[in-house]
Amino acid sequence: MKAQDEGKNLKKIVGLAAADLVKDGMTVGIGTGSTAAFFIEELGQRVRQGLSIRGVPTSYQAKLMCYQHGIPLLDPSLVDRLDIAIDGADEIDYSLNAIKGGGAANTMEKVIATMADEFVIIVDHSKLVEKLAVSFPVPVEVIPAALGLVMRKVREIGARPELRMAVRKAGPVVTDNGNFIVDLYFDEAPDVYRLNRVLKSIPGVVETGLFLGMAHKALVAWEDGVEVMLASQK
Ligand code: 5RP
Repeated sequence: MKAQDEGKNLKKIVGLAAADLVKDGMTVGIGTGSTAAFFIEELGQRVRQGLSIRGVPTSYQAKLMCYQHGIPLLDPSLVDRLDIAIDGADEIDYSLNAIKGGGAANTMEKVIATMADEFVIIVDHSKLVEKLAVSFPVPVEVIPAALGLVMRKVREIGARPELRMAVRKAGPVVTDNGNFIVDLYFDEAPDVYRLNRVLKSIPGVVETGLFLGMAHKALVAWEDGVEVMLASQK
């Protein structure tokens, strides 16, 4: 199997495994991205077979997919607590700290994850890293008017910021909230807890893609099966 197909296959395996965590009657936070898409497909199938749940989507992308697959939805603004939230990640370390936002949905993903009694990250093993933010940038959602200020402030703390551009560079990526995404690159691994605090203190930063101490569990797909990793401190 080609590496690309193998990656896709692992995403599918973990997306299907995640559906087993969803029980009748649950309210479920539903993630964004290609791994979450396999989870949504499987959940839709189970709903058609009689599983009774209500989904709360993390993005327009997730909302549309849930709609297409017949998953009943609640508006996030109308709920304050979820039984479970299941979402992908761009990187995850062995303490289950993660980077999210590769799909520009990190703000809503963080809101939904925080509402959930159990937040589960689903990834293929290529996303597991020793240290975050070395090979993947940290996405930060920024209100457009604060772009210049945020770029200056993050350069002062040693980051190389890049405004995320749409495909074929037609213009900046605009989030579901009408904001921009600035991706922060680092030459060496930053102290992510400190970085998150500093970023959140810059006016105009809406949210970061650093999900620190948030996940209760991760499902990691390997060639020989799905590993369940638990956050030791939870
Ligand atoms: C979207 C996200 C995604 O969960 C993350 O980018 C992983 O995506 P994929 O499952 O397609 O690799 O954080 O904002």
